[in-house]
Amino acid sequence: MEIDVFTLFPEWFQWFRDQRHVRNALAAGTSLRCVNFREHTRLSGGQVDDTPFGGGAGMVLRVDVIDSALRAHYGVDPVLLPEQRRVIALTPGGRPLEDKLVDELAAEPALTLLCGRYEGFDERIVEHFASDQISIGSYVLSGGELAAMVVCDTILRKLPGTLGHEDSAVEESFSPALGGNPEYPHYTRPAEYRGWRVPEVLLSGHHERIEAWRRERSSERGEERRGAAGR
Ligand code: ADE
Repeated sequence: MEIDVFTLFPEWFQWFRDQRHVRNALAAGTSLRCVNFREHTRLSGGQVDDTPFGGGAGMVLRVDVIDSALRAHYGVDPVLLPEQRRVIALTPGGRPLEDKLVDELAAEPALTLLCGRYEGFDERIVEHFASDQISIGSYVLSGGELAAMVVCDTILRKLPGTLGHEDSAVEESFSPALGGNPEYPHYTRPAEYRGWRVPEVLLSGHHERIEAWRRERSSERGEERRGAAGR
């Protein structure tokens, strides 16, 4: 898989790239490149944003700057890009990132992530250059960089060779293997600590009972979570 991140802060991703699981993914053939919008502005002082028409607080990323950055990197008019690859704008109001969407993205050969800053993107960027908008939650970050890292992390851990055990991303929270529910609780040694005993069934060695117990806990947690979210 090829992931390109367009950002004003490419250095943030240096830390991310150095993490063990990300290094594993890169060694297994995934590419993660960063492009700095600021290197593609013809405006003085490296300007990339401007005040919003109609007034209001904050600054808005300029469509001409993002056009130049995408055009220089891919060598095509960026309005054609969404036909070639998924171009994702990270926005607080986008499609919520959930496991199903992560699976969808992990199956793509190439992704482009656009990180907004300040008040976000000139709407024409989203309308004409992006194929998707993704949100990592109903709150506002200072920019799309952390959201892009979250998107990358969730995708990379699904790719073969990223995690230590091949199947550790298969039966995990929200996966189809658990019916979309959170994962069941885990315990390790000691079997008793300060009087807190590990559930007996897990020490029984009885695989079917353990399996059934885990499914029940997982579905209970799903119920609780849906209740807390009011759905
Ligand atoms: N940019 C700012 N806030 C965001 C959010 N919650 N999700 C994705 N991108 C964002």
